[in-house]
Amino acid sequence: MSLWGKTGKITAELPDGQLKNYFLKTASLGDTGRAMMFGEYESLKAIRAVSPAIVPEPYAWGKYDGSGTYFLVAEYREVGEQPPNPIRFTKRLAEMHKKSLSPTGKFRFHVTTCHAKLPQITDCWEDSWAVLYRKQLAHMINLDEQKHSEWPEFKIACQLVLDKVIPRLLEPLQSDGRSITPYLVHGDLWDENTATDMATGEPFTFDAGSFYGHNEYEIGNWRAARHRLSAQPYVKGYLREFPASHPEEEWDDRNLLYSLRFDLGTAILIHCNQRQIVKENMAILCNKFFPNEYAALKNSLTGQPLRANPGLRGAVTYTEEAEKRKRTRHSGRKVTKTMKTTNCRISMAWTLTMSGTTTLLSSTRTGGAKWNSICKLLRCLCRCLDHFLFLYHRRLYFRILLGKASQDHMAHLSALHINPVCRRDIH
Ligand SMILES: Nc1ncnc2c1ncn2[C@@H]1O[C@H](COP(=O)(O)OP(=O)(O)O)[C@@H](O)[C@H]1O
Ligand SMILES: [Mg+2]
Repeated sequence: MSLWGKTGKITAELPDGQLKNYFLKTASLGDTGRAMMFGEYESLKAIRAVSPAIVPEPYAWGKYDGSGTYFLVAEYREVGEQPPNPIRFTKRLAEMHKKSLSPTGKFRFHVTTCHAKLPQITDCWEDSWAVLYRKQLAHMINLDEQKHSEWPEFKIACQLVLDKVIPRLLEPLQSDGRSITPYLVHGDLWDENTATDMATGEPFTFDAGSFYGHNEYEIGNWRAARHRLSAQPYVKGYLREFPASHPEEEWDDRNLLYSLRFDLGTAILIHCNQRQIVKENMAILCNKFFPNEYAALKNSLTGQPLRANPGLRGAVTYTEEAEKRKRTRHSGRKVTKTMKTTNCRISMAWTLTMSGTTTLLSSTRTGGAKWNSICKLLRCLCRCLDHFLFLYHRRLYFRILLGKASQDHMAHLSALHINPVCRRDIH
């Protein structure tokens, strides 16, 4: 299931008569779709060159004739438990990071890659990680302002983070005899882009938007309490495999700094209150490292009418504390109740509810075979319901894919010399 495009499973008959499954993803977003598909293809290829088991093999990407639709075809893997087992997953991820080497020894990547449908900056190779991260965060801040309009209170925090906090926290990684190696990061590792491979039982990831960066950047995406990857077994598991960079006592501050980039991405992509949370998190960093400068900047706004965050009305509300409580209680009901109408919000509420329920069921798997079977059944029902509601609310009916897109799929498969037979499903 994709929020920006369409995904499908294609079963094809190979020349020797064997059936083979392929994963197909399409995006009808013109040049953005091109960047998404090409970027993901190159990302998967780069990760596979280092750790073949951790991502599906990408086979091809391209454009449907006479349309603004781009596609990616990759190895099909049966998606199991999401997210995967923390110990195995963090071990494989750290192995991948450690084995990857930047071809230029610098930070960044050779093509534009995307975070969902947001293209990331990839126009030059940088020696300084602080410089690259500043450019990437500034880019997100610009996109956010274009989408939500200017908000002075937020703007001053952004400026201080870009100008002072980033150099303060990231330059020490590469000065006074300290250094960090540019490692290949997946770039969008969150719960729904990780899974257990049903065929092997091993963890794997997909939907990558890679580049060579500081490996800790990857974990910034896990910080948001709404993500199950924020749970201690994942974070501690990763740190056990790949200890914090020096100065290690600033790991948590860097983690907060890296989370800004992902949370801002969410704010741009989904109508929610993430910009508010990003502002609060920026304020924590500004107050900790530059309290006087931050106070002076805030004073400079005195006299101006205080402006609330534009674009918050009717948004999905994530509260870090509520999310934590929800995860502890293993229930998403409270969050669901606060949701009003609109398709996207209902879908989001159900996702939260279902992840809560699924977590509950996963965490209570201790009561013997009978209880395990009941849990398994309930988990399956939850996933089905979740799945159905997503499809319903996004108006992605099966018939759209089967009716409208199937001709394109057939044509594309013929171009790949694959004989398309059997069935097509969507996720
Ligand atoms: N290689 C694959 N094989 C089988 N299913 C996949 C594969 N890659 C992704 N999926 C499924 O398709 C869904 C959407 O794919 P994803 O690449 O994450 O799209 P999006 O960019 O919209 O997040 C995933 O949540 C997962 O369930
Ligand atoms: Mg995804």
